[in-house]
Amino acid sequence: MDANELKATAQAMIAQGKGILAADESFSTANKRFQQLGIPTTEEMRRAYREMLFTAPGINQFFSGVILFDETIRQSTKSGIPFPQLLTDAGILPGIKLDEGAKPLAKSPHELVTEGLDGLRDRITEYYKMGARFAKWRAVITIGQQIPSSRCIEANAHALARYAALCQDGGLVPIVEPEVLMDGDHTLERSFEVHQEVLNVVFEQLYRAGIDLDQMILKPSMVISGVDCPEQGSIEAVAKATVKCLLDAVPASVPGCAFLSGGQADETATAHLNAMNQIFAGELPWALTFSYGRALQQAAMQTWMGEDANVAAAQKALYHRAQCNSAAALGQYDSGMEK
Ligand code: 13P
Repeated sequence: MDANELKATAQAMIAQGKGILAADESFSTANKRFQQLGIPTTEEMRRAYREMLFTAPGINQFFSGVILFDETIRQSTKSGIPFPQLLTDAGILPGIKLDEGAKPLAKSPHELVTEGLDGLRDRITEYYKMGARFAKWRAVITIGQQIPSSRCIEANAHALARYAALCQDGGLVPIVEPEVLMDGDHTLERSFEVHQEVLNVVFEQLYRAGIDLDQMILKPSMVISGVDCPEQGSIEAVAKATVKCLLDAVPASVPGCAFLSGGQADETATAHLNAMNQIFAGELPWALTFSYGRALQQAAMQTWMGEDANVAAAQKALYHRAQCNSAAALGQYDSGMEK
């Protein structure tokens, strides 16, 4: 595959002040979010919801790319424009979720391993033809009593590396996403240790698989206290721990890290990203930006509620979060922007 095309795509994904909208929720995740709000869980509602997101006026100032799910990449606007074409015409790169979800890890009942490698080469060829230019694979690491095990970290890192190699062979820039969950009562320090171990094993596997590091994007979680930990790290503590961990483990040839939000409140996810870019301005070898799902979409979905009449207001809510996160990617966010 054309290395220059892959490099250019990776650079475009982390362009100054831009980030990635993760709108690749699988059927079950999308339906779960709809159900919580009483929105009907039909294919047409999922299509209408994604059309609302992708046609929000002005979002191409803030989004370099949008990650799609298999169902969504095959769908079109009501007027018949295929979503990948709609995004490409707006200067937004279409991406595709390639993993098939995290399943129970054999011999380790409380851990998960991500599936989806079988037949992946052919799926990549098909998605490239449909207009996709980058992809995502999410591995899930759980912190708990005696876990994560090295078995879990290695199995997930190995799958991430095989996926990334197939992507680069097939012309897609891989987003490598090892998510360390914030569920649990672990401390910030424990989160740091686990992130350090996971990132080091992932980059060792990427090296062994022959990945060109300048043609990929890392999608890390932030180093955060577990949601049930009585002592929560400050915005500054999270920013410093996360950047230290990345500086120790992520080679400088990686163009950028685009964080997941992982269940953080919208404004907290924005504030963390902003603090990293503000505190470490001019000192980082790679770009730090966002690839949020929930922290970009929550407000828009709650405004939309499945009603055509709410589309414009929901699009404004998406625009607002996108604008705040774009400012955070530049270290220029201020909580006054939320008013
Ligand atoms: P959240 O930002 O909601 O964690 O989703 C990002 C994502 O793409 C998870 O794979």
